Amino acid sequence: MAKKEEIFVGLDIGSFKITTVVGKTDEEGELNIIGVGTSFNTGVRKGIVNEIEETVSGISESMETAERMAGVQLDSATININGSHISSFNSKGVVAVGKANQEVTYEDTIRVDEAAQAVQIPTNKEILHVIPRVYSVDGQEGVKDPIGMTGIRLEGEVQIVTVSEPAAKNLKKCVSQAGIQVEDIIASPLAASKAVTSKREKELGCVVIDIGSSTTGLIVYEDERPLYVSVLPVGSAHITNDIAIGLRTSIDVAEKVKLKYGTSLHKTVPEREKIDLSEIDMNEEGIIPRRHVAEIIEARLSEIFTLIKNELRKINRDGQLPAGAVLTGGGAKLEDIDQVAKNILKLPCVIGKPHNLKGMVDKIYDPRFSTAVGLMLYQLEETEHTGGSKQVGLAFSKIKKVFKTFMP
Ligand SMILES: Nc1ncnc2c1ncn2[C@@H]1O[C@H](COP(=O)(O)OP(=O)(O)OP(=O)(O)O)[C@@H](O)[C@H]1O
Ligand SMILES: [Mg+2]
Repeated sequence: MAKKEEIFVGLDIGSFKITTVVGKTDEEGELNIIGVGTSFNTGVRKGIVNEIEETVSGISESMETAERMAGVQLDSATININGSHISSFNSKGVVAVGKANQEVTYEDTIRVDEAAQAVQIPTNKEILHVIPRVYSVDGQEGVKDPIGMTGIRLEGEVQIVTVSEPAAKNLKKCVSQAGIQVEDIIASPLAASKAVTSKREKELGCVVIDIGSSTTGLIVYEDERPLYVSVLPVGSAHITNDIAIGLRTSIDVAEKVKLKYGTSLHKTVPEREKIDLSEIDMNEEGIIPRRHVAEIIEARLSEIFTLIKNELRKINRDGQLPAGAVLTGGGAKLEDIDQVAKNILKLPCVIGKPHNLKGMVDKIYDPRFSTAVGLMLYQLEETEHTGGSKQVGLAFSKIKKVFKTFMP
């Protein structure tokens, strides 16, 4: 359990908005949401920092809004990194069990995880996460925790997540220039999935799809651990652009049309339904069929879900995940989006938003807040693990020691 009255901060630096979520543990050690801040002043393009000054001021504005609401000063946060430079792969290592009695120890698992990290990665990339997946002892496969088992040969499989080194540097620079200390950096899909999936879904096998403004992140879980992480450079802003082109309007008007009249299945829209553009903006004119807007939305969503299907195919999980797909991120708020996803992915699909929290939760029970909430939960969990039960704490500190971060 976390220390009493401690503050946890998740800072989601997105392309559309920068969000801060602040939680505080109460006397029983339970987390209460005490502050939320959002800034739409973001120098982030396609998930990557593009303008330092703009991003720094966006971070400050978001943190200050959350500070005022929470009534506490914030000086550190767990932050996300996003962008299509994020990639992942599985890697394996083998070691001989060290002890004379051939019992696998904690140190053996550290050595085997280290051995699995000995891989060549491109020069401008860096390893962000190395997540143990599964072990095998003398050929006995599928062992989650090998400590205490007897054997001679220990094999370990890890999931390695890499990011662009320059992108990570610029991100850290922005946060530090805003006067905030970085507690940890988590790849966006891991953070978003933390807030919206259950242990059971991850155990059975599921994909979490975070549809943001200019990126769509995905993470596949199986046997509770991440199997694949990837970020596509396309998101809900592409839908807005398509509407602007299709209706020959400005981006601002197209965004308003999407939010007010947008729906994902064109067949559900009666042909007689019309949108009067002058009601949205005095400077616009024209009456357009609402079904036409739905056709534009459905076409782009179909493309996005087909790209995701291709990603699942790469790892032989196309249509193969029993717990289905969880859609989250602001882009997942479009009406009937789950139906389009289901038709293409051939999986059960649900919308995922943060839940089961206490305090000021009205605002954050929304798919747009998944990443920020997930980041805050990672920070909380780290504290719980380091001061928590020996078993979990041990596994966690091992990851901290060997790699830069955590257990999912
Ligand atoms: N109610 C809604 N209906 C439809 N779309 C919505 C709704 N609310 C937000 N969106 C869309 O969601 C997108 C923003 O999502 P989100 O806040 O998750 O992005 P982000 O995290 O800042 O971006 P990224 O993850 O790509 O860096 C915008 O394109 C916006 O139009
Ligand atoms: Mg996002």
